[in-house]
Amino acid sequence: MAAAIAALALVWPLHAEPTRVTFPDIESLTHYTTVRRGNVTEHILTTPAAIEAVKNGKPIPTDTTFVLADYRDGKIYRYFVMEKGAGWGADYDERRRTGDWQFQWFWPDRTINEKENTARCQSCHGSRADSEFLFTFIQLRDFDGRTPD
Ligand code: HEC
Repeated sequence: MAAAIAALALVWPLHAEPTRVTFPDIESLTHYTTVRRGNVTEHILTTPAAIEAVKNGKPIPTDTTFVLADYRDGKIYRYFVMEKGAGWGADYDERRRTGDWQFQWFWPDRTINEKENTARCQSCHGSRADSEFLFTFIQLRDFDGRTPD
């Protein structure tokens, strides 16, 4: 019984688990779209190589990072990060897996949110398997190179 619970915890942790995602070098990323909702402003960024791949209809390369920088009333509140690494999907049970993408929630001081379970991120983004697990795939494909507001 204890072993079964331990095994289950590995598959579906209740609290934040460190994933392989590291906090990226934001300066090297390109801001390609902005999403606004009430007092929330989200700047979404990725690598120039990922933008080029999507524009050319190619798969997004491994070692790609996406950042959703979430501002509240103009102040940074948190960073959502997803990163693709070679073979990273194998860390998860098939039901949870989102290709080779892993997720993490970082506070502005770059520590992770201990209360979040990144299985939640995966269960929602999993619905986007046909567009690289991204919600802003179209915006990325149509990005014209001008930094959005
Ligand atoms: C209930 C669904 C849902 C959950 C849960 C969720 N996301 Fe998202 N995510 C979205 C949507 C929708 C967008 C597009 C931006 C928007 O509309 O706010 C998005 C956008 C993103 C992006 C920008 C790339 C893209 O897909 O367009 C990143 C990075 C991201 N999310 C990371 C995370 C992380 C990390 C977590 C967990 C801590 C998470 N998401 C949880 C729905 C979700």
